[in-house]
Order: sequence, then structure tokens, then C-alpha cells
Amino acid sequence: MSVDFIKWNDNIYSVGNDVIDNEHKELIQIINKLFNAFSEGKAEDIVPEIIKELSNYTQNHFKTEEDLFETHNYPDKDVHIAKHQDFINQIEIWKNKIKQGEKNIHYELMDFLKTWITEHIQKDDRSYNTYFKEKNIRI
Ligand SMILES: [Fe+2]
Ligand SMILES: [Fe+2]
Repeated sequence: MSVDFIKWNDNIYSVGNDVIDNEHKELIQIINKLFNAFSEGKAEDIVPEIIKELSNYTQNHFKTEEDLFETHNYPDKDVHIAKHQDFINQIEIWKNKIKQGEKNIHYELMDFLKTWITEHIQKDDRSYNTYFKEKNIRI
């Protein structure tokens, strides 16, 4: 049985833009998939698949947000983009660890993603929503 470890909730996660919300929902699906693999004792097996999905996800999603920052000249864009870059760098680190046959990446992967949801989506991403709302910029 598959369980939603993280359930979407507009009040907690929405940034006021459907395209971006849908992309964030995609990330939550990836995390839920990893969580369910943990319950089935298969988390280690699906690490390469999850990393690949994250790689595609970040390429697409970070561009969506960064284009928006560019269009509306978001003042915190540099700090925000640096955090996106940290995620991209982390993916490269995991890819190298996999190549070197390192085990147990699934634990740090899960920790990283949980932290990303609370620290980045719930804080940094929602901050641009607050800013755009204050400035009456519809995104
Ligand atoms: Fe985001
Ligand atoms: Fe972001």
C-alpha cells in the first residue's frame, strides 16, 4: 500500500501560482515514492532512479522560478538562485557517490529532501509569493 508521507496542502505549500504549485507537487511525489520504498525495504534500490528524476525536476523547476525572478526583478533572486545551485551540486555529489559504489545514500537523500521541503519550499519559495503580493505583482 502506498502512503502519502507528505500531503499537499495549499495553506502550507502554495506559492500562489498553479504552474509552480504543480511542479512542487511533482517533488512531493518523488519524496513519497522514496518514502514508500523505505517501507518496502527498497529505498537503496531506487536511489539512481530518484536521482535521475531529481535531476530532470531541478532543471525544469528552477528555470520556471528563476525566469519569474528575472521578469519581475525579485530583489532576493541571487540568494535564492544560489540555493537552487546547492541542490544541483548535491545531485552531482550523489551521482559521483553512486559511481563509486557508495552505499546508504538513501538516508541522506531522504533527509535532504525533507529539509528542502521545509526550508526551501515552505520558507524561501513562499517568501517570493509574499513579496509579489505586497507589490501587487500577479504571478
Ligand atoms: Fe521551488
Ligand atoms: Fe526555489
